[in-house]
Amino acid sequence: MTKKHLITSALPYINGIKHLGNLVGSMLPGDVYARYLRQHGEDVLYICGTDEHGTPAEIAAEAAGKSVQDYCAEMYDVQKDIYGRFGISFDYFGRSSSPSNHKLTQNLFLAMQENGYIEEREIQQYYSHADHRFLPDRYVEGTCPSCGYTKARGDQCDGCGRLLEPTDLNDPYSAISGSKDIELKSTKHIFLLLDKLNEPLETWVADRPEWPDGVKGIAKKWLKEGLQPRCITRDLKWGVPVPLDGYDEKVFYVWFDAPNGYISITQDWAAAIGQPDAWQDWWKNPDQVHYTQFMAKDNVPFHSIFWPAMLMATQQNWKQVDYIKGVNWLNYDKGKFSTSQRRGIFTDTALDLYPADYWRYYLMANCPESDDADFTFSHFAAIINKDLADILGNFANRSFSLIHKYFDGKVPTTLDNGLDQDLMAKLTHLVNEYESAHKDMRFRQAMGHLRAIWVVANEYITVNEPWKTAKDNLDQAGVCLTHCVYLLRLFAILGHPVMPTISQQILGLLHDTTDLSCTPFKAGLNFTGFAAGHALADPMRLIEKIEDTRVEELTAQYRG
Ligand code: MF3
Ligand code: ZN
Repeated sequence: MTKKHLITSALPYINGIKHLGNLVGSMLPGDVYARYLRQHGEDVLYICGTDEHGTPAEIAAEAAGKSVQDYCAEMYDVQKDIYGRFGISFDYFGRSSSPSNHKLTQNLFLAMQENGYIEEREIQQYYSHADHRFLPDRYVEGTCPSCGYTKARGDQCDGCGRLLEPTDLNDPYSAISGSKDIELKSTKHIFLLLDKLNEPLETWVADRPEWPDGVKGIAKKWLKEGLQPRCITRDLKWGVPVPLDGYDEKVFYVWFDAPNGYISITQDWAAAIGQPDAWQDWWKNPDQVHYTQFMAKDNVPFHSIFWPAMLMATQQNWKQVDYIKGVNWLNYDKGKFSTSQRRGIFTDTALDLYPADYWRYYLMANCPESDDADFTFSHFAAIINKDLADILGNFANRSFSLIHKYFDGKVPTTLDNGLDQDLMAKLTHLVNEYESAHKDMRFRQAMGHLRAIWVVANEYITVNEPWKTAKDNLDQAGVCLTHCVYLLRLFAILGHPVMPTISQQILGLLHDTTDLSCTPFKAGLNFTGFAAGHALADPMRLIEKIEDTRVEELTAQYRG
């Protein structure tokens, strides 16, 4: 029996427009996988949304001079629009700040408490007299004890990268008001007793041998070091309120509510489609669902340990993740992409520069799966020019112009006995490889196979020379060019998960009505369906090359 496929991508933080490094790690591979599965008739639900709570949201809203509610509402629209233009086919893109998540997070918490996994503890924390409040880690700044940087944050020093506690800082002050009138006072916080879950988590991780090695390694390292009780409350206003007396000034820690967003956003999806209980089929029916998560590697501990631990602690039989696809870093010109420093190419800029499919193909062909990858405009241009323009685009141009020149823009013949066996054998092999790469989410390899298929097609037309044979054996040229028509349809079908728009354009040129969203790869190997005389559209250039001078301009313009 086929299972349902639940897919989630790490919820992007609300604080600003994301860069290409965010896209390549989570939403884009999630989308390629979702499209691939849907094409092959699987029942897919692809869920994502914005991660809206926590200090970064408050700080970004403050910097924008807006209330955090307004800021989040606006940025949600902006992000949602960008992912739509990138062709990311979420079934629902929601928000972690929605009422459904507040309710869910509080209920999950109460269940954890009921089961003995929650403890209240007194800790020492900086209180700011000027601001009349306790200061969460990031709201304390001071001098780094390691490097002397004077604006080190209470959680980490941007000067040297060291992780810090607020009490490590010399000359601490409030980052809100700048006031030095702060003192350590004791205050109550809630802790999740992760230590109690170390053992069951070990068993659970051991039960998932198919996880990628990198992901397993991270999870096992945490478990081996031994999980510690973790503070799950923060002194903030913006967040999910803690449903206990004495916690009016506190909310849950952002990582305690954000992953629950996967569930609550599914609830919001269910409400939106008018079947309010439909979410339960996905989250309360563990054996019937296969659940895959996509994320960058820094998110792996939260998804392989913390969130599974939370769900376990509820003892409510929630669907737990089956497979975690963790992706490494995409670097920008040998340094890091950085949202705070505006370094790199941001998703809005990317779409202003080139069509979404150029980015989609480039990023998947260079997906930082086993290693980090590096983005430069010259590399981007080289890939677009070589793979897309010279191989794919050129094949389409050659086929189309010859069909227009010698066959009046109509499919030359019906392929009944003229089917090229050698071509078919090569294609069948490569399509199988391509399909299994998708199935295993080996995206870089998948793109390599796709490119190899385009190359086979180019070789086919080069060897058969229809531009020559057309002069004395029009039938022979016609058979070859009819094959080319089917090859283009095959490209459209195979290309759909990664280049949905270009694939649809190819189909448009063929005047073909195949529904790419549900046509399996192998159907493309069936060279039937076009009758002789079927009219094709006028030739059109599919891919524009990127000139060297443009590469230089862009490199200079977006230098980090
Ligand atoms: N916002 C986090 C990030 O961008 C990811 C949150 S994933 C979730 O790193 F599961 F918590 F939602
Ligand atoms: Zn430092």
